[in-house]
Amino acid sequence: MRKPLVAGNWKMNGSRESVSALVDGLKAGLATEDGLAVDVAVFPSAIFVEQVGNVLASTNISWGLQNICTEEEGAYTGETSVAMAKDFACKLVLVGHSERRALYGETDADVVAKVQRAGLAGLIPVLCVGESLEERESGRTMDVVAQQVQAVLKGASPESLAQLVIAYEPVWAIGTGLTATPEQAQEVHAAIRELLAEHDADMAARTRILYGGSVKGANAAEIFAGADVDGGLVGGASLDVQDFLTICGAA
Ligand code: G3P
Repeated sequence: MRKPLVAGNWKMNGSRESVSALVDGLKAGLATEDGLAVDVAVFPSAIFVEQVGNVLASTNISWGLQNICTEEEGAYTGETSVAMAKDFACKLVLVGHSERRALYGETDADVVAKVQRAGLAGLIPVLCVGESLEERESGRTMDVVAQQVQAVLKGASPESLAQLVIAYEPVWAIGTGLTATPEQAQEVHAAIRELLAEHDADMAARTRILYGGSVKGANAAEIFAGADVDGGLVGGASLDVQDFLTICGAA
């Protein structure tokens, strides 16, 4: 059985003060002696990762980076390496978020290289996939999602995929308040699970597939009820302690 995962993608938001309040609230709200029923992780901007780690180190909450460099180290101004992520006890890294694909020209080849580098370093790669509104309305949702998933299945080594997590994030639901219906989410998640099964049955059974796209405390439970929905990747609502705690409780 897959343990659900609820992760907060804080994107480029926060200050020292707001991050301190957020992690203190999560620490207090999720403090438990006997472990959490779900895995919880947060993805702060890289500049806050030490501050976040210092507070969450004593909890069951993990943290990670929103992006890493395809290269190991060197003259890559503005980039952050996998080694640096591990230096600050990051356990996960987002790869291929639609905002990086759309705004920064991240290609499937870049995504494969990042999954490979992160996975081989022992980090959990969270592979983000999803279609645009135009692609959905033209009936190409699974063509797009399948191509993004299969690029990684074919391009990355099996060792690097051992801990892979996939996040299905319909682009048209990100930050819009428009959420996929539970049926829409489950349909795509089931199709992704089938793609994984065609590649490796064990991988299909163990890989957690998260839903992302306007997840809120009010809609999380019905979305997470999907048989192939193993939790969520939460943007805006993860910046509100109470809403994020509600979402964690819904998984
Ligand atoms: O990575 C999660 C993010 O893209 C979803 O954003 O604000 O729609 O929950 P939001």
